[in-house]
Amino acid sequence: MNKNELIGTPPAHVGIIMDGNGRWAKKRGLPRTAGHSRGAKVFKRIVEDLRSLGVKYTTFYAFSTENWKRPEEEVNMLMKLLDSYLDDIRSMAQKNTRIIFAGDKAAFSPKMAAKMKEIEEISENNDGLYVCIALNYGGRAEIVHAAKLLAKEFGDNIDAAGEDDFDRLLYTSCMPSADLIIRTGGEQRLSNFLIWQSAYAELYFTDKLWPDFSKDDLITAFNWYSQRDRRFGGV
Ligand code: FPP
Repeated sequence: MNKNELIGTPPAHVGIIMDGNGRWAKKRGLPRTAGHSRGAKVFKRIVEDLRSLGVKYTTFYAFSTENWKRPEEEVNMLMKLLDSYLDDIRSMAQKNTRIIFAGDKAAFSPKMAAKMKEIEEISENNDGLYVCIALNYGGRAEIVHAAKLLAKEFGDNIDAAGEDDFDRLLYTSCMPSADLIIRTGGEQRLSNFLIWQSAYAELYFTDKLWPDFSKDDLITAFNWYSQRDRRFGGV
């Protein structure tokens, strides 16, 4: 039973920074990797909770361009974990879910990159819930990538390029900008996540560690969001 009832309309695009897996494991005397395993299970559950709450677009920060700096053993385990979840992610496509991987796939094994591409392709025409998984993703890298494409496309006519053209070249081009960013784990920063797309997003921070995050917490975040007065620069 959820303590909370949803009030108001849920945000259209929710971005989630799933932080705190390592600390969750440490508190229990477990290796950090156990926290990631638990975090991956929670990811699957929260996708279904978002669907049931009527959210249309979601982006999850699963592995950043900076996460390669972690100990080799942890990076290897995260890669294995992500790879093993690709089948679960593929099966989401059967529920009319569109799956997008934001980030440079070239850094992954050719087999994993091919699986990711295949999942994107088989779900391309789905129009239910959008699940964007940011993998080897960095907001600045995404902006540089889009800027290069923009320069190629416009050439000498670059002065004609506008924000909409730029937006169309981002990994998230099939989704609107983020409305709400949730970060678990107590830190209050974006850490290079959706930095273009979150220009007018509401930012919600909770001390809950990601493996402890529940549907009830999601509703609390949505109810906080629905009380925000979003002016988008107006009055
Ligand atoms: C941050 O916690 C978490 C990550 C860097 C990895 C997030 C990945 C998952 C939850 C798995 C996602 C799975 C799928 C299938 C998309 P942290 O390790 O930085 O925690 P800490 O701050 O407590 O050390």
